[in-house]
Amino acid sequence: MHINWFPGHMKKTHDLIKQNLKLVDIVVELIDARIPHSSKNPIFDELLGDKPCVVALNKVDLADPSKLQAWIRHYAETGVAAVPIDARAGKGIAQLLQTVQRVGVARREKLNKQKRINRSMRMMIIGIPNVGKSTLINQLVGKKVAKTGNRPGVTKGKQWIRIKDDLELFDTPGILWPKIASDRVGLNLAYTGAIKDEILPIEDIGLYFIRDVYPLYAALFESRFGLSDMSDVEPLQIMETIAVRRGCILPGKQIDYHRVANLLLDEFRKGTIGQMSLETP
Ligand code: G4P
Repeated sequence: MHINWFPGHMKKTHDLIKQNLKLVDIVVELIDARIPHSSKNPIFDELLGDKPCVVALNKVDLADPSKLQAWIRHYAETGVAAVPIDARAGKGIAQLLQTVQRVGVARREKLNKQKRINRSMRMMIIGIPNVGKSTLINQLVGKKVAKTGNRPGVTKGKQWIRIKDDLELFDTPGILWPKIASDRVGLNLAYTGAIKDEILPIEDIGLYFIRDVYPLYAALFESRFGLSDMSDVEPLQIMETIAVRRGCILPGKQIDYHRVANLLLDEFRKGTIGQMSLETP
């Protein structure tokens, strides 16, 4: 099975991001902590050029803590500024902002000197769909609004929202398209919900999910669904056993594959099976 994506607006998006990048001093690239590789579009590095960037690994509440640590070590070793966050709960946001200021300050001061201005640092959030861009913006803005009651500032038709004394946020996130470089990446994006379920064969995705993720986290599945050791059992049979356990049965005692696939993906996405990551550095 191949998952592919041919967006008609790819060129437009590309140009828009390029244009918007000119307006900012620093970018926060949001990626999904469960799939840091699959949720990154490598084209972004080309678009970014030498502009400073901080990677925010979002949804850490859903990710496997030991794999997250491995990713953080990996970024540190490769000289990438990366901060783990939970945008929904607002965790890690202070550290993210500190890192943004630390990483962006030299360039901004140089620009201010060159142009003889004294402008605040300007940042933009970018990432593929569903990675948490709006949630992060709301978290950053909500706090500010709640704290000072200030209204967002408007500059030449763009909205700049002051987040700190010396830091402004571009209110519109840059939306990158997911780059589906392999079936593995496509499936990871499907499991996490970055590709809309409506365009996917959901029963197959549910089965592939069992095939790929069950072996990594057998104990979590067994505990969540009350299964005995199924390490030697075919994925289809595991899926059917879970269907029976959860009453995903159609009239005539047929397995309701659609329902059990949805149930599995839904529980994975909410983290109710447990904290799971699908990629290691
Ligand atoms: P986007 O702008 O990048 O497309 O993403 P958005 O903020 O809309 O977030 C997509 C989904 O991810 C939302 O869930 C949001 O609540 C969830 N989310 C964002 N950050 C985090 C996080 O750190 N942890 C967890 N667990 N979830 C996060 P949704 O189900 O689509 O909407 P809703 O249930 O919040 O209404």
